[in-house]
Amino acid sequence: MTETYYNPFAPGFTDDPYPHYAELRDAAPIQDHPLGFWVVSRHADVTAVLRAGLSVETRHLGPNPVLMRIREAAGNRSWRGGGLSMLDRDAPDHTRLRGLVAKVFTPRAIAALEPEIVALVDTALDGLASAGGGDLVEALAFPLPFAVINNMLGMPPTDAGRVRELTGTVVRSLEPMADPQVAAEVMAADIELGELVADVIAWKRAHPADDLLTALIRAENEGEVLSDEELVAQVVLLYVAGHETTVNLISNGVVALLRNPDQLAALRADPDLVPNAVEELLRYDSPVQSSRRVTTAEFELGGHTIPAGTFVIANLGSANTDERFWGPDAAELRLDRSNARAHVSFGAGPHHCLGAALARLEGRVAIGRLVDRFPDLALAGPVRWNGRINLRGAAEVPITT
Ligand code: HEM
Repeated sequence: MTETYYNPFAPGFTDDPYPHYAELRDAAPIQDHPLGFWVVSRHADVTAVLRAGLSVETRHLGPNPVLMRIREAAGNRSWRGGGLSMLDRDAPDHTRLRGLVAKVFTPRAIAALEPEIVALVDTALDGLASAGGGDLVEALAFPLPFAVINNMLGMPPTDAGRVRELTGTVVRSLEPMADPQVAAEVMAADIELGELVADVIAWKRAHPADDLLTALIRAENEGEVLSDEELVAQVVLLYVAGHETTVNLISNGVVALLRNPDQLAALRADPDLVPNAVEELLRYDSPVQSSRRVTTAEFELGGHTIPAGTFVIANLGSANTDERFWGPDAAELRLDRSNARAHVSFGAGPHHCLGAALARLEGRVAIGRLVDRFPDLALAGPVRWNGRINLRGAAEVPITT
């Protein structure tokens, strides 16, 4: 019998990774991978890894020739603002950075965005209605979260096109990477995005406004403040995380509904189902497929000992479809699933997604209003996937309205 190894480069994986995950959960749920990392694929183990408080700082990794080549190509710098974002830091820095951002990125600030989100969605739907359809990603799934995070931060609209290109490159730092050339491109984009954000911050200091950027500049928590470099890194993180993930929630979610007409009909019949439907869509086809951690000491998991200095991949997409946790219908879309919120699409533990409430709000408004507005909504051609392993999503969804 051939061994089953986690292989995101297998043909067809980025179109549909779920059969591969099912095999892994059965054959090697906690896998010591020959390429030098571990992969954890069952719901119970994924949540255990994320809640265990393992490190997110890659400096703890043991020597690894592939990683060293990648690091060298990147000028031995860390991504996303020199590794200073909260996503790349352990406590106590993580606690301080997250506390400062959370102070201004509040549930109240997010809830206040609802009228703006409704208006943005309705304008996008007007465009689709007058054209009789189009590409859902270009018309709604991308522009909505991009506009929301731009407006919330108070970014000037001038550089939107360039920013979109740069963030699209920077997110490749979250993909499994074996090519030093890609690393060099990601680093160049990261530096340019950081400089662009630093320029906007300098301008904002002189022109404060009622926006998140101004609030972050002023943020102070029990005497703690953000250094200039930390401020840039948190803004870059919010910017990138703010739209490169939510686009997948909307596009993958709509694809899932169109491929399951009985569920789409159930949602139309009962709009109160929308909040739970968004949780189930997050579970069914996770916008982020994995999180990474690093062990700083031996870590015991399910009878295995993971050595210190090891990369551990928490396979979120697999945990979300683990039949041991969800039951025999784990692979089915069931919008009324009572425990849908137990998905790990937003991670778990100390780094649980800070933007989850915003993503949920955007998902509810976009999907709820789309379904309500277009009773004949249908796919008009094949869905094209974006080819990403981690931030996996539909890149083109042709629809008729
Ligand atoms: C962290 C998913 C939307 C901001 C995370 C993590 C996941 C995730 C899995 C944890 C990463 C880890 O543990 O390594 C998602 C998904 C989204 C989404 C699926 C949309 C459907 C957003 C939005 C924002 C945001 C809209 C902000 C505008 C953040 C931040 C962190 C984070 C700041 C870092 C938290 C920390 O390190 O403490 N997200 N996210 N996310 N997310 Fe999201």
